[in-house]
This record gives sequence, C-alpha cells and structure tokens, in this order.
Amino acid sequence: MNNLSAGEPTPVEANERAVVAFTLNGASVQADVLPRQHLADVLRQVFRLTGTHIGCEQGVCGACGILVDGLVVRGCLMLAIQADGCDIVTIEGLTDSHIIDDLQEAFVQRNALQCGFCTPGMLLTAHELLKHEHAPDRARIRETISGNLCRCTGYHAIVDAVERTARARREARNGS
Ligand code: FES
Ligand code: FES
Repeated sequence: MNNLSAGEPTPVEANERAVVAFTLNGASVQADVLPRQHLADVLRQVFRLTGTHIGCEQGVCGACGILVDGLVVRGCLMLAIQADGCDIVTIEGLTDSHIIDDLQEAFVQRNALQCGFCTPGMLLTAHELLKHEHAPDRARIRETISGNLCRCTGYHAIVDAVERTARARREARNGS
C-alpha cells in the first residue's frame, strides 16, 4: 500500500542523485549529491573544505557560514542542490583572497578566538558587515554577530577585533 500523499517525493526520488554545478572559491566544480544533503556537508565531505564548521545543524550557531552570491548563508540550512549555478565562497577562499588579512590579524592580536570553532562564521559575518558599513559602533557589531555563538571568548575580544579593523580601514582610506 502506498501511504504517500499527493506531491510528496517517492523514496526513489528522495534517493535519486543529482549533479550540481557551481563556482567554489573561484573554480567551476560539480558534485553528485542527494536531494537531502546540506551544502555544508558536501563542502566538508566532497571538497574537504573543513573550515565550514557544523555545530547545531539547525541554523542557530552560525558556525557553518558560507558566502553564497556574496551573502552570508548558513550551510546547514541550504541544500546542496540549491547551490546549482551559485557562486560559493568558503572561509578557505576568503582567506586565500587576502581581503580579510587585517581582520584575521586583529582576531589574533585581540585573542578573539580560543578553540576557533566559531571563528570562520564570525569572520564571514564581520567581513560582510565591514563591506557595507565603514564605522559600525560596538552595539552594531554586537547586533551583527548575535547570530554567531561563541562558547569561549565572551564576545568582547571579537567586538574589539572588528572595531579595530573598521578603524584601521577608515584611517587607511583617509590616508591618516
Ligand atoms: S551548524 Fe549551521 S547554524 Fe549551526
Ligand atoms: S572561540 Fe571557541 S567557540 Fe568561539
């Protein structure tokens, strides 16, 4: 007897693999995925990009952050098949681009990471903030990173590092 309701995928469809093609850290790639596979799992297991961390797997902790078409997205809430045609950048790609060298250095200088589990997501979120806002105050930085959980630092040092980076970039822009 078939207990599936109309429109519900059959077990065969749910297990049918699909090839997705997308840009990953600047390179064109393909992956053979199951419809239920999260993008974060595919990035880690297929492409060995383990900087995308997996914590809560329900969109709460922010450890699985990745850039999708320039916006921070939770890789545990995005299916790999939804990545077809997208431009995906992981913390590895962002690091290799050197555009967050100063932010990463500020994290080190301020001891804004301890175990480092939250750090890739924090960096991506801070990068997105600083891309759009040149002078966020501490409240704004706190609000922005409020979707990224850190069990170690108490957040003050992370806010310091982001604030310090924003200030240094402003000074560089102003030539002072
Ligand atoms: S693992 Fe994705 S938000 Fe926590
Ligand atoms: S440094 Fe350990 S969770 Fe943030």
